[in-house]
Order: sequence, then structure tokens, then C-alpha cells
Amino acid sequence: MAEPAVKRTPGRGRFITFEGGEGSGKSTHIKILADRLNAAKLRAIITREPGGSPGAEIIRHLLLSGMGKLLGPDAETLLFAAARDDHVQTVIKPALNQGIWVLCDRFSDSTRAYQGRLGKVAPAVLNAMERVTIGDLKPDLTIILDVPVEVGMQRAAKRRGTGEPDRFEAEDLAFHQELRDAYRQIAAAEPQRCVLIDATADPSTVAANVWTALRDRFFTTGANMANHA
Ligand code: TYD
Repeated sequence: MAEPAVKRTPGRGRFITFEGGEGSGKSTHIKILADRLNAAKLRAIITREPGGSPGAEIIRHLLLSGMGKLLGPDAETLLFAAARDDHVQTVIKPALNQGIWVLCDRFSDSTRAYQGRLGKVAPAVLNAMERVTIGDLKPDLTIILDVPVEVGMQRAAKRRGTGEPDRFEAEDLAFHQELRDAYRQIAAAEPQRCVLIDATADPSTVAANVWTALRDRFFTTGANMANHA
């Protein structure tokens, strides 16, 4: 594959987040994208939230076991924020500063959707948390993979096999429907940053649409290269 020329701010990596409900295919597509970027000689790492750093993985364990739920929505949100703070400081920012592209499976839009819309945590609390944990580190691009709830739940159940559903997978269909609506609203509210992709299509079509979203924002080719490199 021809090496893409990257637009703007050379030297800094790009921060791309993947969002979506359960079974939307984030992990599949984040992997395909990382492989494609690496094949194009752009160093890319995959990370995830909650987790992604040793400290944050400890908090992930608490959250997904359902322990955070016992504390109530505000305190559970604080745990997500604590995990994010560690992850941003120790993994995401250092990588971006070294020119590495960071592909993150879930980020602050998950907090907006799960804790904000579904947990009814007040926007003022979420804004305050974001100021502390993220500051001015907004994703350069957010891919939101959209699937009907029934499809996503079926895929998640298949992937899980005989294992127990985690704290969020165990919620009912109405929860997941509202989650989907929340993501669609986020995509509509921030079209510059977010791209909503129909993830019911076959994986190669979804992967091609993800790549198009990157190409439109970050790459330029041929004659324009000198202007942007
Ligand atoms: P994970 O097993 O990584 O789920 P998925 O494969 O669906 O990404 O579990 C992460 C769960 O944590 C997921 O159900 C969404 C939830 N979550 C929040 O509620 N708030 C957040 O800020 C983040 C990052 C995740």
C-alpha cells in the first residue's frame, strides 16, 4: 500500500477513539485499523478503557465486577475518571507526543452515554471530570459503530459463550436501546469529530468506511503532499 501523507501537525500522533454499544465490533475494527496503519508505516497502538494502564486495569476489574455500581452512579463515574486520568497521563499522552497513533477502545463518550444518559449523572459532574482527566485532549476522530440492539446483544452473547455477562452486558434491552440513541445523539452533535458507521454491514465494508473516515481527515496524496507533510 502507498504510504499516506499525513495532514497537519507532523510529529504528533493522532488520537482515534472507537465507541458503540455491546457487540458493535469495536475490537475487530480497531485491530484492522491498527494493522492497516502499521502497514502504512504509521506506528499505532491499541488501548482500551476502562483500563489501558496498570493502575487503570485494577480499577477496570472493580468496575466490571459490579462493585462500582454498589457505590452509586456518581462514585462509579469517579472510578471511571480515576482510571482515565492514569491512562491519559501514563499511556495516551506519552504515545501521542512520540508521534504514535493511539487507537482507544472507548473513551469519554462512553462516560457521556453510560454514566450520563443512562446513569443520570449530571452534565456538570461529567464536565468537571473531563476537565481534570482530559483537559484539552479531545480525540481527533471518534468512530461510532452503530448496530441495532438485538444484533449487538446477539453478537455479545455469542462472543461470551458460557461466560457470565459483565455489569453492563447484564442490563436489559431498553438500556441498550437508550445507549444506542445516546451515541447517535453524540454523533449528530459533533459531526466534525464523530463519524457514525453502520456496523451491520460485512466487516470488510465497515473497515473500508473506517478507513475512508481517516483518509478524509488525516491524509492527503500525490501533489498535495508537500503542502501538508
Ligand atoms: P468491555 O468488556 O471493554 O466492553 P466492550 O467490549 O463493550 O467495550 O467493558 C467495558 C464496559 O464499561 C462497557 O460495558 C462500557 C462501560 N464503560 C462505561 O460505562 N463508562 C466508561 O466511561 C467506559 C470507558 C466504559
